[in-house]
Amino acid sequence: MTDNARLSGSYWLETAPGAPRPPLAEDIEADVAVIGGGIAGLSTASELARAGRSVAVLEAGRIAASVTGHTTAKVSVLHTLVYDKLRRTRGPEGARLYARSQTEAIEHAAALVDELGIDCEWETRDSYTYVCDAGRVDELRAEASAAKEAGLPASFVTETGLPFPVAGAVRVTGQAQFHPRKYLLALAEDLEARGGRIFEDTTVHGLDEGEPCRVSTGTGATVTARDVVVATHYPIFDRALLFARLSPRRELVVAGPVEADRDVAGMYITPDEGTRSVRTASLDDGRRLLIVTGEHFTPGTGDTRERFDRLSAWARDHFPGVDVTHAWATQDIDPTDTVPMVGPLHQGTRHAYVATGFGGWGMSGGVMAGLLLTAQITGRECAWSGLYDPRRLRTQAREMPQFLKTQAQVAGHFVGDRLKPAPPVDALPPGEGAVVRAGGDRLAVYRDEAGALHALSPRCTHLGCLVSFNAAECAWECPCHGSRFATDGKVIQGPATTPLERRDI
Ligand SMILES: Cc1cc2nc3c(=O)[nH]c(=O)nc-3n(C[C@H](O)[C@H](O)[C@H](O)COP(=O)(O)OP(=O)(O)OC[C@H]3O[C@@H](n4cnc5c(N)ncnc54)[C@H](O)[C@@H]3O)c2cc1C
Ligand code: FES
Repeated sequence: MTDNARLSGSYWLETAPGAPRPPLAEDIEADVAVIGGGIAGLSTASELARAGRSVAVLEAGRIAASVTGHTTAKVSVLHTLVYDKLRRTRGPEGARLYARSQTEAIEHAAALVDELGIDCEWETRDSYTYVCDAGRVDELRAEASAAKEAGLPASFVTETGLPFPVAGAVRVTGQAQFHPRKYLLALAEDLEARGGRIFEDTTVHGLDEGEPCRVSTGTGATVTARDVVVATHYPIFDRALLFARLSPRRELVVAGPVEADRDVAGMYITPDEGTRSVRTASLDDGRRLLIVTGEHFTPGTGDTRERFDRLSAWARDHFPGVDVTHAWATQDIDPTDTVPMVGPLHQGTRHAYVATGFGGWGMSGGVMAGLLLTAQITGRECAWSGLYDPRRLRTQAREMPQFLKTQAQVAGHFVGDRLKPAPPVDALPPGEGAVVRAGGDRLAVYRDEAGALHALSPRCTHLGCLVSFNAAECAWECPCHGSRFATDGKVIQGPATTPLERRDI
C-alpha cells in the first residue's frame, strides 16, 4: 500500500479484544451444538439458552473475530437494492416477510441492548442507498416504492448527509449501527451466565446426523447433541449442494478519524461501480471514525494492494483531510437468489440446521437467523421459515442464470488456474507468494521478508481448486468458495477445515 493506511486489522478487534475461552477438552453433551461463533452462531446460541436449552458453541478461532469482527456493523433493513427484486421474484408477500423479519431482528437486538445494559455504542441512524449516476435514479425510485409497499418507512430523496451531491437515494428511517464485538461479547457472557458453554480453538471436522447427532472436533473431543446448527459462515458441511448457490465476495475497509462536525449523520451504500459504503463510529476523543468499504472481488483474484489504494484515495477525495489510520478486509457470501439460507441443512435432515448467505447484511440477518432457528428447534411456528428455507426449490428456475454463472466461475478456476503459466521461484521477491512449478509439480511458495521460502500444496483442502496469494493480506486464498490459509498452511477461513499440506522445496 502506498499511503499510511497500514493493514492494521479490524478497529472492532483492537477496541474490544475480549477474554479467551478454552478449547473443548473432553466429550460433552448438550441439547444443541452450535458450530461457529460469529453473529449468526452466537445469536442462535443466545436465543436457545434464553429458551431454556443447554448449548455448546464450538468456534475454530475466537468468537466474533472472523467476518463479524471485520464488518461495518450497520444494523439496517435497507439492503442496498433488495425489495424491488424480491417483489418481482417472491411477490409482494415475500418482500413484506423479508422486511418484517429483518425489522423484528433489529427491534430484538435493540431490546437485548436495553435489557442487558450492553454498552455497544448502539446509535439510531437513517439508512440510505444512494447513486451518483443519474441513469440509475429510476432503479432507486422503484426500490423506494417496493420498500414502502413492504411496510418500511422508506422514501426517495435527493438530499443526504454526505458531503457530495447524489442523483438520488432511498432512505429508511430509524435504523441502527453498533460496535459488533461489544454487543456479541456481552451476549456471550449472558449465554455463559445461563449455563451455555463456549469453546474456542476448536475446529469441527465431522457431523454424524444420528439421533442424537455427534460432532467431532480437531481436539479429539466430541459433542453429542439432539440438534446441530452449522453457522460457520460458508457451511463446512454441504449435504444440499449449497456450494453451487453461494459465491464468496471479499471486500476492503479503510477508516480514519474526522471531526465530529463532519459526521455524515446516516449510514450509506451505493450500488454504483465498485460499491462504496460509509458510516461513522464514536471515538473516545469526541471525534468520529469514518468507515468506508468497497472494492469487492472474488477472493484469490487480482492485486489487493491496488484496491486498497483506490479505496483510500476515494475516502480522501470525498472526505478531504481524512487520515486513513485503519485498513482491513473481510468477505461475505452472496446467494444466487439474494435471500439468506437459514433453516434445515438438507432435505432429509431432522436435526441439522444452517445459517449462511447473508449477502453483506449479516447483522440484522444473523439476529434474524437466531430467532428463526430457535423457533424451528423449539418447535414454534415462524412466519418467514419458508422465505429463508435453504431447501427452497421454487426459485431455482429464476436463479438459474446466476447459478450457472457461479458454476462457470468455479469450473473456470478449477481448470483454468491449472493452465496458467507458473513463475520461476527465483523471481519471487520477499513478501510475495505464487504457485510455482518445481520438479514437475506445482507448489504454493511464499518468500518471507528474511528471504526464506515456505512451500505448501496449492490444492485447497476443501474441493481441490488451486489457491492464489493475496500479498496485501499475506494469505493464500481459494477463488472457488473463499477458503483462506496462512503462509504456514493453517486455515484462516473455511469452508476448508484442514490445513494446506506442507511441502519441501
Ligand atoms: C466489508 C464488509 C462489510 C459488511 N458490513 C455489514 C454491515 O454494515 N451490516 C451488515 O448487516 N452486514 C455487513 N456485512 C456482512 C456481515 O458482516 C456478515 O454477513 C456476518 O458477519 C456473517 O456472520 P456469520 O456469523 O455468518 O460469520 P462469521 O462471523 O464468519 O462467523 C462464523 C464463525 O464460524 C467459525 N468457523 C468456521 N469454520 C469452523 C469450523 N470448522 N469449526 C468451528 N468453527 C468454525 C469461524 O471461525 C467464525 O468465527 C459486511 C460484510 C463485509 C464483507
Ligand atoms: S474453498 Fe472450495 S475448493 Fe477451495
